[in-house]
Amino acid sequence: MAFLDKHKVIETNATLLLVLSFLVVSIGGLVQIVPLFYLENTIEKVEGVRPYTPLELAGRDIYVREGCYNCHSQMIRPMRDEVERYGHYSLAAESMYDHPFQWGSKRTGPDLARVGERYSDAWHVDHLTDPQSVVPESIMPKYGFLSRKVIDGEYIGDTMKVHRFVGVPYTDDMMENAVADFQAQADPDSDYDGLVERYGKATVRNFDGSPALTEMDALVGYLQVLGTMVDFSTFQPDASR
Ligand code: HEC
Repeated sequence: MAFLDKHKVIETNATLLLVLSFLVVSIGGLVQIVPLFYLENTIEKVEGVRPYTPLELAGRDIYVREGCYNCHSQMIRPMRDEVERYGHYSLAAESMYDHPFQWGSKRTGPDLARVGERYSDAWHVDHLTDPQSVVPESIMPKYGFLSRKVIDGEYIGDTMKVHRFVGVPYTDDMMENAVADFQAQADPDSDYDGLVERYGKATVRNFDGSPALTEMDALVGYLQVLGTMVDFSTFQPDASR
C-alpha cells in the first residue's frame, strides 16, 4: 500500500523519526497542559478542608523531617481493596494545602491518609515510642525521643509565612496569633476560643498526655487530623465536572 511505503521512509530514517515523534509529543503535551492554565480551578472545592493549624503544621514538618513518607503513603486510590481497607478514596482537595504533598510512593507500612481519630492519642504515643509494644511484628523504628524535645512554636510563624507564599490562605489574624494558637491546641485548659474561631473544627487536647509541649504533641496532633476534615456522610462529588 502506498501509505505504508511512505511510512517506511520515516521508519528507516532515524532523524526524521525523531523529529516527527518530537512534533507529535509536543502537540499532545500542549493539548494536555495548556488548558490547565486557563481553568479557574483544577481542584474541586470541598467543604471542611482547611489549612493546618500551627501545631498540626509543626507535626507535619516533623513527619517530613523523620521521613515517615519513606514507608507510608497518604493517598487512597479509588480501587475496591484500598477503599475497603482505608476508607473513602482521597480527594484532590484533601491535599491542596500540603506543600509538598505527602502522597508517597512506598507502603512498607499502611496508608495514613485517614488514620486520624482511628486510634487514641495514647495508642499513638505508645506506638511511636515503641511500635513493637502494640504491634509485636512491627518493623517501624522507635521515635520516643520526640517526647523529650520541648517546643514552643517560636518559628511557626515563619513556616506559615512560607506556606502562605505558596498559596495556603493563612489570614493576617492567623499569622498574628500563630504562637498563641500553637500552644493553645495542646492545652485544653487554655483559652482556645480564638483558635476554633480562626480554623473552625480543630481538636484541642494534650496529645502526648505529659505537661510539656513536645514534638510528640505536634506529631500526634497532625496524625489525628489526617483524613478527618471532610465529612463523608454528607459529601457529594460535584457531578458537573
Ligand atoms: C521503616 C518503615 C517505617 C517508617 C520509617 C515509619 N513507619 Fe509507621 N509503620 C511501619 C509499619 C511496617 C507499620 C505497620 C505495623 C505497625 O503498626 O507498627 C507502621 C504503622 C504505622 C501506624 C499505624 C497505622 C495503622 O493504620 O495501623 C502509624 C500511625 C505510623 N506507622 C506512623 C508513622 C510515623 C508518624 C512515622 C514517622 C515518624 C512512621 N510511621 C515511620 C513502618 C514505618
